[in-house]
Amino acid sequence: MKNKLFVLILFVIGAAVGYFIFNHKSTSSTDDYPVPFSHYVHTSKHKIKCVNCHRGVETDARAGIPNIDYCSMCHSTLINPASKREKIIYNLVKENKPIVWKVHYTVPDYVYFSHRRHVKLGKLDCTACHGDMTKQDSPDLKNFSPIMMPFCFNCHEQKDITTDCGNCHH
Ligand code: HEC
Ligand code: HEC
Ligand code: HEC
Ligand code: HEC
Ligand code: HEC
Repeated sequence: MKNKLFVLILFVIGAAVGYFIFNHKSTSSTDDYPVPFSHYVHTSKHKIKCVNCHRGVETDARAGIPNIDYCSMCHSTLINPASKREKIIYNLVKENKPIVWKVHYTVPDYVYFSHRRHVKLGKLDCTACHGDMTKQDSPDLKNFSPIMMPFCFNCHEQKDITTDCGNCHH
C-alpha cells in the first residue's frame, strides 16, 4: 500500500515537472520578439489612445500596426535613460530598422471582417474581441484565444445581426 502511494506521488510530481517544462518551452518568451513593446506603458501609464497607433480601426477593415517611423516620433531621444527596454527601441530608431511584428489575430482570406464596421458603426469596444490590452505588458499575448466562427456567430445572434453565410464568407 505504502509503495503504491509512493509511486503515485512520484508520478504526480513527474507529471507536474513535465507539464511545467513543456509549457515553458511551448510558450514563446519575450526574447523572441523584436521589441519588448508594452501596451501597459503606452496606454495605461501614458494614456496614448488606441487609434493613435492603430490608425485604421475607425476607417478601414484592418486596424494596422505602426512601424518604426511612427515610434521615432517619441523614441529618437531617450525619455527614460534608466530603461533598458526603451534603449532597444531607441537603437532601432537610430538605425531606422523596420520591425517585423508577430500578428496573433487573423482571419483566413475567405472571411470578411471590418474594424470600421464593428468599432465605428457597431460602437463595440476593443475589449469585446481583444480583452483588456491596457494591462498587457509584453507582446507575448498569453491570454490570446484565436478567433473562431462560433465567436463571431454568437455575438451576431445575441445582437440580432445577420448570420447569413455570405455576409462573412466571400
Ligand atoms: C506618443 C509618444 C510615443 C510613441 C509614438 C511611442 N512611444 Fe514608446 N514610450 C513612450 C513613453 C512616454 C514611454 C515610457 C518611458 C517611461 O516612462 O519609462 C515609452 C516606452 C517604451 C518602451 C520601454 C517600455 C518599458 O517597459 O520600459 C518601449 C520598448 C517602447 N516605448 C516601444 C515603442 C514602440 C515599438 C513604438 C512604436 C510602435 C513606440 N514605443 C511609440 C512614448 C511613445
Ligand atoms: C468584433 C471584434 C473586434 C473588435 C471590436 C475589435 N477587433 Fe481588432 N481584430 C479582430 C479580428 C477578427 C482581427 C483579425 C482581422 C484580420 O485578420 O483581418 C483583428 C485584428 C486586430 C489587429 C491586428 C492588426 C490588423 O490590422 O489586423 C489589431 C492591432 C487590432 N485588431 C486592434 C483593435 C483595436 C485597437 C480595437 C478597438 C478600437 C479593435 N481591434 C476592435 C476583431 C475585433
Ligand atoms: C504606442 C502605440 C500603440 C498604442 C497606443 C496601442 N497599441 Fe496596440 N499594438 C502596438 C504595437 C507596436 C503592436 C504589435 C506588438 C504587440 O503585439 O505588442 C500592437 C498590437 C496590438 C494587438 C495585437 C495584434 C495582433 O494580432 O497580434 C492588439 C489586439 C492591440 N494592439 C490592441 C490595442 C488596443 C485595444 C489599444 C488601446 C487600449 C492599443 N492597442 C494601443 C502599438 C500600440
Ligand atoms: C461582440 C460582438 C461581435 C462579434 C464578436 C463579431 N461581430 Fe460582426 N457585427 C457586430 C455588430 C454589432 C455588427 C453591426 C454593425 C453595424 O451597425 O453596421 C456587425 C456586423 C458585421 C458584418 C456586416 C453585416 C451586414 O449587415 O452586412 C459582418 C460581415 C461581420 N459583422 C462579420 C464578423 C466576423 C467575420 C466576425 C468574427 C471574426 C464578427 N463579425 C464578430 C457584432 C459582432
Ligand atoms: C459572423 C461571421 C460568420 C458567419 C455568419 C459564418 N461564418 Fe463561417 N467562418 C467565420 C470565420 C471567422 C471562420 C474562420 C475561423 C474558423 O475556422 O472558425 C469561418 C470558417 C468557416 C469554415 C471553415 C471551417 C474550418 O474548420 O476550416 C466553414 C466551412 C464555414 N465557415 C462555413 C459557414 C457556413 C456554411 C455559414 C452559414 C451557415 C457560415 N460559415 C457563416 C465566420 C462566419
